[in-house]
Amino acid sequence: MLQGKTIVLGITGGIAAYKAAAVCSKLSQSGADVRVVMTESATKFIAPLTFQAISRNRVIVDTFDEEDPSVIAHIDLADRADAVVIAPATANFLAKTALGLGDDMLSTTLLATRAPILVAPAMNVHMYAHVTVQTHMEQLRARGVRFVEPGEGFLACGYTGKGRLAEPEHIVDELMRMFKMKSELSGKKVLVTAGATVERIDPVRYLTNDSSGKMGFAVAAAARDRGARVTVIAGRTSVEPPSGVDVIRVESAEEMLHAALSKFGDADIVVKAAAVADYRPVRTEQKKIKKSEQHLSLELERTTDILKELGNRKTHQVLVGFAAETHELERQAMAKIASKRCDLVVANDVTIPGAGFSADTNEVSIFDTNGLVEKLPLQSKRDAAERIVTLAAGLLAERSGGKQGR
Ligand code: PMT
Repeated sequence: MLQGKTIVLGITGGIAAYKAAAVCSKLSQSGADVRVVMTESATKFIAPLTFQAISRNRVIVDTFDEEDPSVIAHIDLADRADAVVIAPATANFLAKTALGLGDDMLSTTLLATRAPILVAPAMNVHMYAHVTVQTHMEQLRARGVRFVEPGEGFLACGYTGKGRLAEPEHIVDELMRMFKMKSELSGKKVLVTAGATVERIDPVRYLTNDSSGKMGFAVAAAARDRGARVTVIAGRTSVEPPSGVDVIRVESAEEMLHAALSKFGDADIVVKAAAVADYRPVRTEQKKIKKSEQHLSLELERTTDILKELGNRKTHQVLVGFAAETHELERQAMAKIASKRCDLVVANDVTIPGAGFSADTNEVSIFDTNGLVEKLPLQSKRDAAERIVTLAAGLLAERSGGKQGR
């Protein structure tokens, strides 16, 4: 799987840097073209020559070490990489990466690359548990960076606990898993809806909701990273859509309906994470409504239930709906599966702190026609999205006769 792949191996300055030699060796033995980039601090623990001998490639430490005048070294490396592995990653390097600092060869390469990134942190047990380290890891996870968790045991600093660099075999296995996932949805089309719809009352007022688009965008990014061609139909959102996906902007439920119907026939997986208005004003006033009487009544009418409409037209598609609930999660989710002909429903209790609208995290339970499939803990929307896409991809593979583990 790694044969012929260009893997940038980034090594930062911790005692576990010596173990990176084994990572480098395993990658080279698997047929990868390994390009090692070290931070200055890493060179205090192990010599670049070690990696040069193992990888049979020049090791780069200095950003300004521009050997080939026809290219800019860090951009060239970033573009050529099929994947970047950082092992070990120190607390300092995680902070720099989360902030987007680019003050050495490795950090500038990471900023410039569009290749998937796998990070194996290693540090003292208290440093690893520190809230800033965990926050930076969470931010990076939300951007699609994958982690190989450190192991537990005796640490070089004398403590025992979580902080040891994961075993080199484990890091390489994880990288292979990443490549396998990348091709999981290759050639497939995934349609995702995200954000809030806006129903106009008059030129300056409207009905909407608190959806930020984060959940739908996380699903889109997860599907993109598995090789799918992704289209997102986005209502009002407060965050930017992920790169590398097609975005169709809509405002009202009616516009979302038309956009969804136009893309549905071609789609293999459809995930409806958008929060769509159930009611809209019967009339949209052309002029601003002036205040006059003590009370004002707005007459509302039902919008079309897009998910139900798609369910009725479903042929080969795997259809995934969401359910934003405040009570009776399971009953509501199962009712939606039945009435909207969904294959999966992702239910979130939007009263839980850190779950549902606008948060970076979510706590979801996933149901299929037989009942609860998985109850996931509170985690980043990106991690929840990974699980949702894995289950949907599994159903798609089952449907087309292939086997795919859940
Ligand atoms: O965007 P975020 O800030 O990240 O928040 C994420 C979220 C809370 C919006 C998301 O996790 C979520 O729950 N989305 C669905 C919200 C919703 O409208 O739930 P519902 O239970 O009212 O609708 C059920 C399903 O029917 C949804 O898939 C919805 O997209 C769909 N629907 C609803 C009404 C309608 N007219 N047409 C629809 O297609």
